[in-house]
Amino acid sequence: MLNALNEQSPDKILMLMQAFKEDPRPVKIDLGVGVYKNANGQTPIMRAVKKAEQQWWEEETSKSYVNLAGDPEFSDMMIGLILGSSVARNSVAAIATPGGTGALRQAFELIQMASPEAKVFVSDPTWPNHLSILRHLGIETVSYRYFDSATGAVNFDGMMQDLAKVSKGDVVLLHGCCHNPTGANLNLTEWQTVVDLLNEIGAVPMIDIAYQGFGDGLEADAKGTRLVATSCPETLIAASCSKNFGIYRERTGILMAVSQDSSLRNLAQSNMTHLNRQNYSFPPDHGARLVTHVLRDDDLRADWQAELDDIRNGMLTLRQQLADELQRLSGSNRFGFIAQHRGMFSRLGLSSAQVEQIRADHAIYMVGDSRINIAGLNDESVPLLADAMIKVGA
Ligand code: LMR
Repeated sequence: MLNALNEQSPDKILMLMQAFKEDPRPVKIDLGVGVYKNANGQTPIMRAVKKAEQQWWEEETSKSYVNLAGDPEFSDMMIGLILGSSVARNSVAAIATPGGTGALRQAFELIQMASPEAKVFVSDPTWPNHLSILRHLGIETVSYRYFDSATGAVNFDGMMQDLAKVSKGDVVLLHGCCHNPTGANLNLTEWQTVVDLLNEIGAVPMIDIAYQGFGDGLEADAKGTRLVATSCPETLIAASCSKNFGIYRERTGILMAVSQDSSLRNLAQSNMTHLNRQNYSFPPDHGARLVTHVLRDDDLRADWQAELDDIRNGMLTLRQQLADELQRLSGSNRFGFIAQHRGMFSRLGLSSAQVEQIRADHAIYMVGDSRINIAGLNDESVPLLADAMIKVGA
């Protein structure tokens, strides 16, 4: 049987992570996978998370199963974090999932169950794993223009022209904030224009929000998602706690289905809970428990927010430093967009040959489409990256 399988091509981002580890050069810079690193290159456990873990270690008395949909308090806390008071709690169905990827997978399966003919529209470019999971499930995908590589900004006119081709019942996948891989984001007026079009067509928005708090702050980063959830009849939201709580390996995420028709909530909830049972039964609890502890305790929450703000501001400073250094070296402001982008990533607009050459000559690792993880930089490596970019003719 096994010999009937086809070789799978490895995930490019994860391959890059491995190649970096194996590179023997003493000075090397990892700007690949979307994992936060401080100025010393470490991915620390956040202070509030560590405290929550100590508390939970004392409190936990059993490892028995919790709930098929996950701990309800985790759902309440996460709905509050992402949606605030924008929608009534009883209009949201929610399941805990293994990470944001688990939430995406469950959302796509839910779409397939409800509407097998629906196409899913994704931004060009998008996180490659969106495409990979959709392909794996056999769901038809259509790309819509999103990024203008000449300016480093959103190509909003192109996006709207392409979204005009969406049909009733199709799903449009949007990044809630901190677009991965480009770093270019919609402003609120643009979100409103998208919402109006989707409502006119009768299409369903699905939001992937994996970096809340990494752009302009927890509240600001949720504004687009809240606008959609309050304005559209139905919204799917896949969220990750990997990045903003720094609990990557704990696999903590949530899928929400918001419906203005609250009579549909129970139907959505029973199908989502069913999907958990089919795919992995009970979702992981430990990371969700840490998140719940942090969010419900005023002191822990304040400390978590303060640390997250420091992380965010550190990335903004690095963005500005890189844009300034490139301006100094190139004598032009053509890389000014790096300071305008938000989140962990920016797409620099280099060719794959230039990306390859930077890796070969300077041991600087970025994804092949020239996406960099800003958090992989520090005061010393910013000038090295800028210099390498100019040297390869950027
Ligand atoms: C990324 O885009 O680098 C992250 O979301 C990590 C991953 O799983 O690819």
